Amino acid sequence: MAYLLGVDIGTSGTKTVLFDEMGNIRASDLQEYPLYQPKNGWAEQDPGDWWAATYVSIKNVLAKSGVSPEDVKGVGLSGQMHGLVMLDKDNQVLRRSIIWCDQRSGAECEQITSLIGAKRLIEITANPALTGFTASKIMWVKNHEPEIFDKAAKILLPKDYVRYRLTGEYATEVSDASGMQLLDVPNRCWSDEVLQKLGLNKSMLGKVYESQEVTGTIHSKAAELTGLKVGTPVVGGGGDQAAGAVGNGIVKPGVISSTIGTSGVVFAYSDKVSIDPLGRVHTFCHAVPNTWHIMGVTQGAGLSLQWFRNNFCKDEIATAELMEVDPYYLMDKAAEKVEAGSNGLVYLPYLMGERTPHLDPDCRGVFFGLSAKHTKKEVLRSVMEGVVYSLKDCMEIIKELGVDVSEIRASGGGGKSPLWRQMQADVFNSEICTINASEGPAFGVAILAGVGSGVYKIVPEACEATIQVKTRQPADQAVTTRYNEYYKLYKSLYRSLKQDYKTLAKLV
Ligand code: XUL
Repeated sequence: MAYLLGVDIGTSGTKTVLFDEMGNIRASDLQEYPLYQPKNGWAEQDPGDWWAATYVSIKNVLAKSGVSPEDVKGVGLSGQMHGLVMLDKDNQVLRRSIIWCDQRSGAECEQITSLIGAKRLIEITANPALTGFTASKIMWVKNHEPEIFDKAAKILLPKDYVRYRLTGEYATEVSDASGMQLLDVPNRCWSDEVLQKLGLNKSMLGKVYESQEVTGTIHSKAAELTGLKVGTPVVGGGGDQAAGAVGNGIVKPGVISSTIGTSGVVFAYSDKVSIDPLGRVHTFCHAVPNTWHIMGVTQGAGLSLQWFRNNFCKDEIATAELMEVDPYYLMDKAAEKVEAGSNGLVYLPYLMGERTPHLDPDCRGVFFGLSAKHTKKEVLRSVMEGVVYSLKDCMEIIKELGVDVSEIRASGGGGKSPLWRQMQADVFNSEICTINASEGPAFGVAILAGVGSGVYKIVPEACEATIQVKTRQPADQAVTTRYNEYYKLYKSLYRSLKQDYKTLAKLV
């Protein structure tokens, strides 16, 4: 039997999963690490933590599974997108990584737009300049830490730094590279024009591959640390969203995913480059050759509930430990007791600014309508509902672009909650499905590793063979009618607060 290893370097931790060629999980392991927030709106992580989490989790998975390293035919890497890793000429990390949800680079976005021109930037990179993307983070270091920028010999994305540690190669692949805003997205290669206008040297970047291509093999030092065999192929893999989409079977028209991870994403496949002229959703290369995808991203999805858990649910955490259940299970049970609409409480999930649809690094979270009659469970439910309203914002724009939405597959940690799925069904007014495969990004890159190492022929065929719909939850029409009214209010709240957010940003 052939085995395939998927490694997903996420924001809260690295998850490594070993699959057999039928897509069954043989063993998995999660290693967590901290997120540093040195200032309001800033977010950083230590690339050394990602690497340690990767080799420890691979070692654990091999030990737990009992599978011989000889039988691991390929490794796929998935990771949080957009993070900036800078290495000096001796391959030492120069500073902590400025990661995807960091919002410090608003001025650099204006700089990029004026250097390249708004229209030309969209023509080449398929997206407007955004604080979330890597280019503005690079420019921030160039502007604010020139002594570090001057020492930078290589610029890598999070999973590609791990690839470097595993294989010694500087490489990336089209799906994640799209989120750097240095890639010519229609032509799937680095853009000389963008690099030249930003004053960046192409030699700083890794070689761009298609996601299923082999980018290198495990070298002896990495083999020692992980237990993998020297020479095991490592394929391109994918940014976590494209990888998750492969793992959810989003490789054909009509099938959409709605993912609640740390961020929230509505993701659609496309066989052509279609761009939102207002730049509210991103267009990137998909992890399947010659295809692209459109995605709406809400910054604080699972992050909102995690924030609520960490700050206000100490009792639930303690009880959950005694009961040997997940604290989120108890939180779901509490939220279930409240009716749709949280008794008039509306939450805006902008803890880390917002991308879709506002493209606003300065907006922040709000509880609107808070009254003395509200208790913790209403506040909790409103957090979950606010996240789903923000996903509806993404869904609406994707539909506006003419994308056929016939089937919505729930995914991510939040997709495991039946309550959060029902909220999605009711708010979207659409059936929500779950599938048999639960490890989205890790499974997606294991499929890519299978294609790269010859276990499977092509990605859609591998998805067809291994992924089936498992459950379907329809919308409840009465609840949908109520949510429609709340959603209208949710939308108008941002419009009302837009200027106040700017004032607030100047105060902190
Ligand atoms: C996608 C994005 C996030 C991160 C973290 O554009 O920024 O999904 O990849 O999950």
